[in-house]
Amino acid sequence: MTVHQETLWQRFLEPIANVLIDRDEMKRLSESIDWEAEGDRLRNPQVTYPDYYQSQNFHGIEKGYLNPGAAVTYDPITQYALPPNETWLREDAIKTIQGQPRRILDLGCGTGSTTLLLKQKFPFAEVIGLDLSPYMLVMAEYKAKQAGLEIQWLHGLAEATNLPSESFDVVTASLLFHETPSAIAIAILREAFRLLQGNGQVMIFDGSQETLRHTDWLTEIFEEPYIKDYARHSVDAWLGATGFEAVYTESLWWTNQVSHGIKPLPTGMRPVRYAENVMADSMGVDGTAPAFS
Ligand SMILES: C[S@@+](CC[C@H](N)C(=O)[O-])C[C@H]1O[C@@H](n2cnc3c(N)ncnc32)[C@H](O)[C@@H]1O
Repeated sequence: MTVHQETLWQRFLEPIANVLIDRDEMKRLSESIDWEAEGDRLRNPQVTYPDYYQSQNFHGIEKGYLNPGAAVTYDPITQYALPPNETWLREDAIKTIQGQPRRILDLGCGTGSTTLLLKQKFPFAEVIGLDLSPYMLVMAEYKAKQAGLEIQWLHGLAEATNLPSESFDVVTASLLFHETPSAIAIAILREAFRLLQGNGQVMIFDGSQETLRHTDWLTEIFEEPYIKDYARHSVDAWLGATGFEAVYTESLWWTNQVSHGIKPLPTGMRPVRYAENVMADSMGVDGTAPAFS
């Protein structure tokens, strides 16, 4: 006889989620969007799903992000997973970006929560969100339309985007690295380095590696297959090894962290206008590093 073992997610989080989540809104979204047709419209047929991605049931959802259910439930649950306030944390991470970037790429954008905030903070920038799940992109596009924001959504692999080299001022990734094996996180940083022009900035917002090292129970509840691997490493060290300079990581409450780095200019090259702003900002008026409020 097969005994069905409940996952920790089903035992602890599902009952809580059932009380907190607006089931009517989720039902409305599930039924009002033709997920397969919309997913097909955004799907890039050239994309093949790597095994580390399609073999896992992230957050206890069968087929993980390749299931429309993931796109519908992601925002209602994430708001409780990012205390004290999801938007504040994302905004604090975005505050590390200096100057006025003109082209921004948000890798693993999911339902676009950070992507939308980036566009709101830098309204004149061309903002692109890229994700491997067409369904997450459908939700992101829906949210951007509701908010009246013009953002481009691309279906693709963060570690191999096929986008042109040195074509962005800023590359970001939010809550992506704890969801990939560490070798993939490093490959994504290499891709970000290739995509950035000299003096371009990378911003990585995710769970606090320091805290996660001491909270195994938390990682098991959330059913995150790669989070222990993520917690063992250091985004700072990865950024440095990739070639980024002025690297630092700041805690955002005890739960999260934001890491920032700058791609150096090739020796002897004068910074372009945008890059000059970044350098001026990063020095601060008195020559010290800037304070992020
Ligand atoms: C936890 S969600 C984070 C979504 C969003 N960035 C946020 O801050 O809420 C992780 C997202 O990364 C995407 N993802 C995972 N691996 C990826 C990869 N190799 N390339 C592109 N997207 C990926 C998933 O499809 C999912 O939408």
